[in-house]
Amino acid sequence: MCGIFGIITLKPRAIGKDLVAGGRRLSYRGYDSVGCAVLSDGKIDLRKDVGKVDEVSKRLKFSEMYGDRGVMQLRWATFGAPSRTNAQPHLDCNGDMAGAHNGNIVNTPQLREQFIKEGHKVRSTNDGELCIHAVEKYYDKGFDMIESIRKAYEDLRGDYAFIIFNDGEKRLYAVKKGSGLVVGVGRDEMYCSSDLPSLLPLTKKIIFLNDGEIVSLSPKEAKFFSISDGKEIKKKTVSYRKSPEYARKGGYEHFMLKEIHEQPTAIEDLVELLDESKYVDKFLSFIDDSDKVFLAACGSSYHACLLGSYYFGNIAKKFVVPVVAPQFISQYGHAVDDKTCVVLVSQSGETKDVLNAMNYAKEKTDKILGVMNVIGSTLMNSSKAYLPLAAGYEVSVPATKTFLNQCVMFLYLAKRMAGESCRDMGELSKLVKSTLNSTTRDCKKAAAYLGRWDELYSLGYGSTYGIAKETALKIKEITYSHCEGMYSSEFKHGPLSAVRRGYPVMFISSPKDTDVMVSHINEVTCRGGKAIVIAERNESMVKNADELIQLPHSGDYFSPILATIPAQLIAYYMSTRRGIDPDFPRNLSKTITVD
Ligand code: G6P
Repeated sequence: MCGIFGIITLKPRAIGKDLVAGGRRLSYRGYDSVGCAVLSDGKIDLRKDVGKVDEVSKRLKFSEMYGDRGVMQLRWATFGAPSRTNAQPHLDCNGDMAGAHNGNIVNTPQLREQFIKEGHKVRSTNDGELCIHAVEKYYDKGFDMIESIRKAYEDLRGDYAFIIFNDGEKRLYAVKKGSGLVVGVGRDEMYCSSDLPSLLPLTKKIIFLNDGEIVSLSPKEAKFFSISDGKEIKKKTVSYRKSPEYARKGGYEHFMLKEIHEQPTAIEDLVELLDESKYVDKFLSFIDDSDKVFLAACGSSYHACLLGSYYFGNIAKKFVVPVVAPQFISQYGHAVDDKTCVVLVSQSGETKDVLNAMNYAKEKTDKILGVMNVIGSTLMNSSKAYLPLAAGYEVSVPATKTFLNQCVMFLYLAKRMAGESCRDMGELSKLVKSTLNSTTRDCKKAAAYLGRWDELYSLGYGSTYGIAKETALKIKEITYSHCEGMYSSEFKHGPLSAVRRGYPVMFISSPKDTDVMVSHINEVTCRGGKAIVIAERNESMVKNADELIQLPHSGDYFSPILATIPAQLIAYYMSTRRGIDPDFPRNLSKTITVD
């Protein structure tokens, strides 16, 4: 998803280098084109194209770009195909103002037509360009930049953030409405970016913007203004101690494989954090004191919520509803009141659908909890209480270690809520490690078979339903094949008709559900289908599965977590066998900041 990064310095220097580095730190979000605009000797130098940060910046020599202010943008196409013209930043009509946005301007067709009628030189079909013309329109009428941005804000519908500067005033302006925007305070320099971690290598002094706020940056100060009345507002500077570890592949062929192998450490770190945190009880008290509890999320995070709801129900006897974030509003919105607790779960803490659900729920209850991996994210800053996933930096677009830590977090919380000891959670990390070691060979073999098919199913039951859905999502994301994740008992209600000789169906079973799973396996195998099963070894599974990927003995609550490991490995090896880069699958983005 798009990312924006801006710098203003006291003296002109080769800021292109820092802009590229900032852009590289935002590249985890997924993008198709990149661009850089720098004010150099009184003129705006704009370079942009389709491609990856390193490739485009090398070709267009971004790091040689010299000046005292500039903006870098990574674009993930929504309005307008990926092309050089649609890449950002954009210029105004005369080329004396430049800027870039992240988000969606939903009234793009109307605004574009209007600007063209008014005589603006609209060069692209991208919505980001409209932000620049919207500001230019008022600036050219004599309003100052703050007033022009305030007026543009009225015209630009949707959720976005943009950074803009002109060739006159030595300032960088930015505005936030729905998308992430964070300011970094340097020495004789100021920065702003779509996220906090990208700023931390440059400064530890951070100021967060709220929606409806404008920042005007000079090299020595950051001034904030409210969109509603234009008045200046005072903001707090927060100090951070640590920079995030910026990921390297560390000998692995892909970040995804590295992140899969980091899971034992990620789990260990999370369990240690939860053991020591004084916030776990506070977090649980919100859930405990509520009549209705929802776990709202998207993608992989939603699949973790499916398992979370199973854990809360079966271990803590607490009725908790897992729901896809937008569906939470449409289907359960009517039921949300001040006795409702809404737990928003998101790796990035920036997913627009999740933030929409959060903002909706906030109108009706103050019991808003967050579970996220990215520290300083909007979700973290907006929730009443939050728990971090402590999984470390995850680069690869498909979630792996953050998903697993979400599952571990829910198991831990459910056990604590039930008054059970969490001491056995310390074993999980070792079990995950041994699962990695013991299943890799079988996963490669299964991937070789499954990779020959363009459609398959992944079935779970009870606690493994969420894992089956997650397996299917992983396969869809990085192999470009269709894989449907279902409740195994539903398979006979229709999809069974797809089964023919060799047709692949994956089954993921916990020990408790062996008998029912065996009967579902047989519905497939007796019709010639091929059952690839991920489960603990037992006589019945050995007899009935065509291929059994064996999990270490760990019991009903750990086994769905362990089953995730072979599922991730199978998807990974299917993807690489097809020559796909699993870290950056086509069309996808790690952080989806649009509706
Ligand atoms: C995107 C990613 C998915 C992710 C989903 C939710 O669609 O491609 O991998 O699961 O967003 O992300 P979140 O950051 O909210 O967990």
